[in-house]
Amino acid sequence: MDFGRVTDDRLRELQGELPPECLLREPQRLEAFAADELKLPVLPELVVEAREARQVPPLLRWAARHRIPVTARGAGTGLSGGALPVHGGVLLSLARLDRILEIDPVNQTARVEPGVINAALQEAAARRGLFYPPDPSSWESSSLGGNIAHNAGGPRCVKYGVTRDWVMQLRVVLADGSEATLGPATRKGVVGYSLRDLVVGSEGTLAVVTQALLRLLPKPEATRTLLAFFPDLDAACAMVPAFSRAGITPSAIEFMDGEAIRIVRQELPGELPEACAGLLLLECDGREAAVEQDSLAIGEACLEGGALDVLVAEGGPRREKLWEVRRSLSRVTRRAFARKISEDIAVPLDRIGEYMRGARTIGREHDLLVLGYGHLGDGNIHVNVLATVDDSPTLQRMRACVDRLLALAVELGGTISGEHGVGVAKQPWIGLELPPTLLDLQKRIKQAWDPQGILNPGKIFDWQSDRARELFGAMREGEKSN
Ligand code: MLT
Ligand code: ZN
Repeated sequence: MDFGRVTDDRLRELQGELPPECLLREPQRLEAFAADELKLPVLPELVVEAREARQVPPLLRWAARHRIPVTARGAGTGLSGGALPVHGGVLLSLARLDRILEIDPVNQTARVEPGVINAALQEAAARRGLFYPPDPSSWESSSLGGNIAHNAGGPRCVKYGVTRDWVMQLRVVLADGSEATLGPATRKGVVGYSLRDLVVGSEGTLAVVTQALLRLLPKPEATRTLLAFFPDLDAACAMVPAFSRAGITPSAIEFMDGEAIRIVRQELPGELPEACAGLLLLECDGREAAVEQDSLAIGEACLEGGALDVLVAEGGPRREKLWEVRRSLSRVTRRAFARKISEDIAVPLDRIGEYMRGARTIGREHDLLVLGYGHLGDGNIHVNVLATVDDSPTLQRMRACVDRLLALAVELGGTISGEHGVGVAKQPWIGLELPPTLLDLQKRIKQAWDPQGILNPGKIFDWQSDRARELFGAMREGEKSN
């Protein structure tokens, strides 16, 4: 793709449109925005740090005039490289647009700017007796704009659905700098195609979100957390269909396999049985009486399903500690191994056990450690390929192993990415899941929204471009401990 560069002349033109404090060019400032959680820095030519939403349209008009790429970025916590400016140009930071503009208890909505951190909205909503369900593991650091761009999931999605289910309306800036409001401010709305739903999960490739109206719920009266220890992973996996059959809907069904448990064993409660090779972290919420009943039913179902023991964690620090251990797995596994490739496949609920057995076999065949943890209730597994040696033959084996792990997910009727998006990291495998006709249809949608291809180029599809391919190779190598 033939993009324009940020020349001195063009920069002077932009300086006429935006205040100087928004334009960052010094190498140190650029470096601060160069990496996301994929951990391979790519320097932009210019960082534009928006201080007000009204600064975004003139930036995009300028970028469209010169065909300069614009990559929007929230908190930089993405795991697929979605915020990396792989074709250079402008990195548009929306982190300072971090105001919660309104919490409306009657309509049960929150109007927010994209830089608001997920936890900040959860806390503000809770102070008003309300509740925002989507809770990615990065909730304390990821921004709502990033959550929207990737249609983020999280533990509570098993009961409450993913980010898209909570977005009512979006204020966006289109690729030519014009503004639009997508979706009505109502619970229902069926006029035309849902462009709002298309923008959610589009990884910043269709429009830049400058404001969102999100749906809230009344805060559940009570929450109870349970830990169930199983002698093997198959028994733990079998609990998901068992809960479905029993009509129980926990608000979280997270799991760790034996290898994941081994890595965080010290952090887990002392009562963890030695023989435990599959752990479920379960939660239910709602009215106090219903929670009481549900937690009993969950506990009984687990024991019937072969659990070695079930513990109930009362609220407060103990519950927080359990969740902290679960959420830390991404970081901890990265630190514990010389190389790590982490995936986020999802399979239908009745194929989870089969997937995990297959994944272990694939790991053995490649002489690599493959472990799994994640959102079992959604069939969404963070399957990690890990190696203690950091050399090129090992990396090749790891790539071959990932090929098989992703292909297996698709063979079982699943997806190569349930949560983290395609970004750059998943591009080589997108064809496993999307046939050419659908890929072509998606590209034509992109073309209709962004004819010059300036919004976050190099993401989702055009990995064939030399630059993206070259970076991609380096990126997968960059997924080691740091
Ligand atoms: C998680 O669920 O912890 C996150 O999605 C990150 C990951 O571990 O892949
Ligand atoms: Zn996850």
